[in-house]
Amino acid sequence: MIEQEIIKSTEQYLIEQFSGESTGHDWYHIRRVWRLSKSIAEKEGDMDMFVVEMGALLHDIADHKFYDGDDKIGPIKAREYLSKFEIEDARLEKIIDIVKEISFKGMGVPTKMSSREGEVVQDADRLDAMGAIGVARTFAYGGSKGRTIYDPMVKPVCHTSFAAYKMSTAPTINHFYEKLLGLKDRLNTDTGKIEGERRHLFMEEFLKNFYQDWDAIVR
Ligand code: ADP
Ligand code: NI
Repeated sequence: MIEQEIIKSTEQYLIEQFSGESTGHDWYHIRRVWRLSKSIAEKEGDMDMFVVEMGALLHDIADHKFYDGDDKIGPIKAREYLSKFEIEDARLEKIIDIVKEISFKGMGVPTKMSSREGEVVQDADRLDAMGAIGVARTFAYGGSKGRTIYDPMVKPVCHTSFAAYKMSTAPTINHFYEKLLGLKDRLNTDTGKIEGERRHLFMEEFLKNFYQDWDAIVR
C-alpha cells in the first residue's frame, strides 16, 4: 500500500473505533490533532510527513486512562495495528515512539519526545487540551469520571510522579493548575508556542470569569 492509502485506511479505522466517544478522546479530537500536526509540521518544515500523520492518527489508540492507568498498551496496540502494512523499520519505530512518549504525566514530570515529528504531534495534542476546546474537553472528562466542577476546599497539587498524577480525583478546576496552565511552557515548536499563547490567554480569561461568577453577586 502506498503511504496515502495507509493514512486513508487508518482514518477509516479510527472513525469506526472512536466515533461518539464522549470523554474528550473522540474521533474529532484525533482529527484535530491530525490537522494541527500537519499544519505545524508544514510551518516548521523538513519533517517526515508520513510519520507526523500516522503518529497523530494513532496517538490515542489505547490511552492509559482507559486501561487502568497502563501506559504500555498504547505502543503495543500501535505496533499490532501497523504490522498489517509494510513500513520500513526506522519509520515504524518513530511512529510507535510517538504513541509511547506523548502523554502528559504530571506537572513535575518531564516528557521529552525523541523525534522532531514527535515534538510536533505532542504540541498538537497539547494545544487541543488548551483554549476553548480544552475547557470543553476538561469538563467532559471530569463529568465522565464523576468529578465535581469546583471545590474551594480542595487545593491543586504539583504531581512529581505519574502514579500520583493518575490517582488524582480532584475537582475539574484543579486540572487547570495541575496541567493545563503549564502546557504553554512545555510546547516544543515555535509554531506551537505562538498558537499556545492565544489558547492560554483564553483559559486565563475563562478562570477569571469563573471565579467572578462563583462569587454570585452582581457588580
Ligand atoms: P494527553 O494527551 O496530553 O495525555 P490526556 O489524554 O491526559 O492528554 O487528556 C485528554 C483530555 O482530558 C484533555 O483535555 C485533558 O485536559 C483532559 N483530562 C485529563 N485528565 C483530566 C482530569 N483529571 N480532569 C479533567 N480533565 C482531564
Ligand atoms: Ni490526545
